[in-house]
Amino acid sequence: MVSGADKMETGLSFDDILLAPRESSVLPEEVDTSTKITEDINLEKPVISSPMDKVTEYQMAIAIARQGGLGIIHRNLDTEEQIRHVKKVKRSENWVIENPKTIKPEEKIDKAKKIMETQNISGLPVVKENNELVGILTKRDLRFESDYQKKVKEQMSGKDELITAPPDTDMERAKQMLHENRIEKLPLVNESGRLEGLITIRDIEKKKEHPEATVDGNGQLMVGAAVGPKEFKKAERLVDAGVDLILIDTSHGHSENVVEGTEQMANSLDIGIMSGNVATEEGARALIDAEADSIRVGVGPGSICTTRIVSGVGVPQITAVMEASEALEETGADASIIADGGIRYSGDIAKSIACGAHAAMLGSLLAGTEESPGEIVFKRGRKYKEYRGMGSISAMEKRENNRYRQNPDKRKEYIPEGVEGLVPYKGEVSEIIYQLVGGLKSSMGYLGAEKLEEMPKKAKIHKLTKSGKSRSHPHSLEVTRETPNYSPEDRDSF
Ligand code: XMP
Repeated sequence: MVSGADKMETGLSFDDILLAPRESSVLPEEVDTSTKITEDINLEKPVISSPMDKVTEYQMAIAIARQGGLGIIHRNLDTEEQIRHVKKVKRSENWVIENPKTIKPEEKIDKAKKIMETQNISGLPVVKENNELVGILTKRDLRFESDYQKKVKEQMSGKDELITAPPDTDMERAKQMLHENRIEKLPLVNESGRLEGLITIRDIEKKKEHPEATVDGNGQLMVGAAVGPKEFKKAERLVDAGVDLILIDTSHGHSENVVEGTEQMANSLDIGIMSGNVATEEGARALIDAEADSIRVGVGPGSICTTRIVSGVGVPQITAVMEASEALEETGADASIIADGGIRYSGDIAKSIACGAHAAMLGSLLAGTEESPGEIVFKRGRKYKEYRGMGSISAMEKRENNRYRQNPDKRKEYIPEGVEGLVPYKGEVSEIIYQLVGGLKSSMGYLGAEKLEEMPKKAKIHKLTKSGKSRSHPHSLEVTRETPNYSPEDRDSF
């Protein structure tokens, strides 16, 4: 009989490999880090935040999408709560205000002034009961007015003076109209003269602050949401709420219910489906066959994971990514691979991509940021935030239908596969992403890869020995000035 040991293979992790430099005329600042995740989702930066309850709720999803990545709202929430988070992301970056504050022509300008002041808006469209636009009242119209008992219709700019546009006006055309007519607000009006939205210079200007943001066709930030393999109804509701990606979030994606759930959602929902986690070629192939658009790869590499220790199961992450990449190549499928778990440095993202991943998923690197859920806690005068595995006791207690299929009523019977603890407070997500993508760009420069998709072709990979690993770290000095992208503590683990 052939035993498992007879088929033993060597598995490689991040620290077991290095990418060789090669002749290059590519400058890091000129590279293109954009990547395709699903048919509709293209990211300017290949980073996705983990669907974990101490990592991604709406604040994180907004912050990372503004940087050009993507956030996936975790599944330890009931349907209504998760929808609320998705909607907050979708509404955060609206350059078209779909339901602008309005005022009626018969009302007093005193009321208009109060609305403008309390809500910090500089003008109000004036509409009749049936929402027909009859004018606009701006702060400028009120500047020299002292009689606040006057009616709005006496002070507003009337219909004849108004520049309006149809509801389907795109951003370029809106900019042109605002500029040519020297106006700051452009009401969107349908064929019957009813108000359907408002475009303001202020919102368009705000968009320029995040030129790389991940947005949909309406200019709204994109966001994903995690569900269980059997939560089809929840997924449908999330799609109705405007979510851009559904992630079937499980610890073992190569299992019957995940494959079936993937098939069902991929065939019936009209958006991209990410599914996982898998760590072998066969696992990736099963999800590709189930028509997943994106395969999430990683069993046990995460910083809070104890799966490998508790169950003895897992695949070192570089090998897992390579196997998934082989499955893609052999099937010729147009799916993406997400390297999930264990990313500690920008170099780990570069290695993942060189081995075939299209993006990296980050948990611990984003936990502890300003935008991660939870309060800052102090310990010996230092700032920290909580971070925990979704298979930790406290995370599983939060929801019956958890990632590890364990019942919160039977706390004593839990077999946890994750731990919980504190991570240092790290400031804003934008700073972390800047360093991570900076390191990735540097890697692309060394490899001569102008585009992300060239990295696997350009990469020559060396396996390291133990001394190769330890010699990769700074040595023979005490680091006195730490950098934002390296922790000297890691050197000591070799
Ligand atoms: P990092 O290393 O970025 O990993 O913190 C985040 C990823 O870890 C996975 N995850 C878990 N794995 N037990 C596990 O074995 C857990 O409790 C757990 N919680 C999350 C998940 O894939 C995440 O994206």
